[in-house]
Amino acid sequence: MTTWSPRAVDEKILVTARHDAVRTPVDAMIRCVTVPSHSDQAPAPRAEAVVDLDAVRHNVGLLSGIADRSGAATMVVVKADGYGHGAAEVGRAALGSGAAWLGVATLEEAAAVRAAGITAPLLSWLHVPDEDFDPAVAAAVDLSVSSREHLAAVLAAGRRTGRAVRLHLKADTGLGRNGAQPSEWAGLVDDAAAAAASGEAEIVAVWSHLARADEPSHPTQDVQAAALDLAWRHVRERGFTPLRHLANSAATMTRPDLHLDLVRPGIAAYGLDPIAQPADSPLRPAMTLRVRVALVKQVPAGHGVSYGHEWTSTAPATLALIPAGYADGVPRRLNNAGRMRVRIGDTIRPVVGRVCMDQVVVDCGDVPVRAGDTVELFGTGDGDSPTAREWADELGTIHYEIVTGMRGRIRRTVRGDGPPTAAGTVGNGNGNGAGTPAGHVGSGRW
Ligand SMILES: Cc1ncc(COP(=O)(O)O)c(C=O)c1O
Repeated sequence: MTTWSPRAVDEKILVTARHDAVRTPVDAMIRCVTVPSHSDQAPAPRAEAVVDLDAVRHNVGLLSGIADRSGAATMVVVKADGYGHGAAEVGRAALGSGAAWLGVATLEEAAAVRAAGITAPLLSWLHVPDEDFDPAVAAAVDLSVSSREHLAAVLAAGRRTGRAVRLHLKADTGLGRNGAQPSEWAGLVDDAAAAAASGEAEIVAVWSHLARADEPSHPTQDVQAAALDLAWRHVRERGFTPLRHLANSAATMTRPDLHLDLVRPGIAAYGLDPIAQPADSPLRPAMTLRVRVALVKQVPAGHGVSYGHEWTSTAPATLALIPAGYADGVPRRLNNAGRMRVRIGDTIRPVVGRVCMDQVVVDCGDVPVRAGDTVELFGTGDGDSPTAREWADELGTIHYEIVTGMRGRIRRTVRGDGPPTAAGTVGNGNGNGAGTPAGHVGSGRW
């Protein structure tokens, strides 16, 4: 353990001096991963999720190209604030690179997309029947309905706003979540057909969602596709020709036979492969989590680190304090040496000891590091660097949960949206190119 003797202090000074002597080349390396978009006057944020819209464009171009070969259009799903990447920024990038539609879960998310000036076809699908549908109908948001009660609510909004409601009738083909059961389908279709006949509604689509798309050859896919076909035929027999849509990212990438008229990829647009490991995927992860070192210190052998002293140095060690913790979305369950790795320059080093509310500690080994340097917690995976997928695998969860879980004091910086600023190409979350931080459609924070 450290004793606060003059000798210990002298040793620390010596170690620091040696450390500085070898700093220059590695320091240059570390600066390569420092966000280059911040001017000398404005230091890089303490902790930021950098979103690369060029990666989104690459991914959406790839997905919409695959869909196009089947004759299907592409709806990119931007619910949950674009899976944590910024719904408006991702939406604009997606629409400019092959997507024709956007999809969200809630009315608030739909309103935020419209408030960002996006006028493209937009579907919202998860509602409580007594919500206020008027603004969504007035803003030409397509609405999914799963029951007669939902349908009555949105038709009432159409009457109040004087507009025909654009309907997507959702069938529960086997997922057991939203959507009408087969026994309820005829009643829902009767009501929708009557509304369409009177001009109150347009039946735009019949749709459903897959339960096991990440197992491409699982028979459930075919069962669900057949059930959707039956539901659609029922509507056709009433004289309507709605679109059909079923495929999420996994089915878009692996099951062209399920593309139908429209595919709805979400996670793949953000560069996270629903099936393959990052190294085997054609997708490019769009989010990189970067945090700047708050403090560097030398500790002697036998020094415990973080609550509970779950890790103790076995030799003198250089430790870097990283100011991001579980309140920011770094899962506390990534405790234990080696389960969480960070990239410092081009070196990968382990987080040691417990993840705390605000901070984690990295054992830097021989890597010279200084307060203010930037480390990467997860990102593209290039050079064996950590990925959101790696965190998810460690935790027994999915990368969706990691990227949608960034929050608290982590700032989002969107790159590749709007004109370059003096310091680089940085988006701003509200599309005005003024270089302000991006965020929850303009807020800069989750
Ligand atoms: C109805 C619906 N469609 C499409 C998607 C996109 O799914 P994925 O992110 O797996 O592509 C989701 C996301 O869960 C969804 O809820």
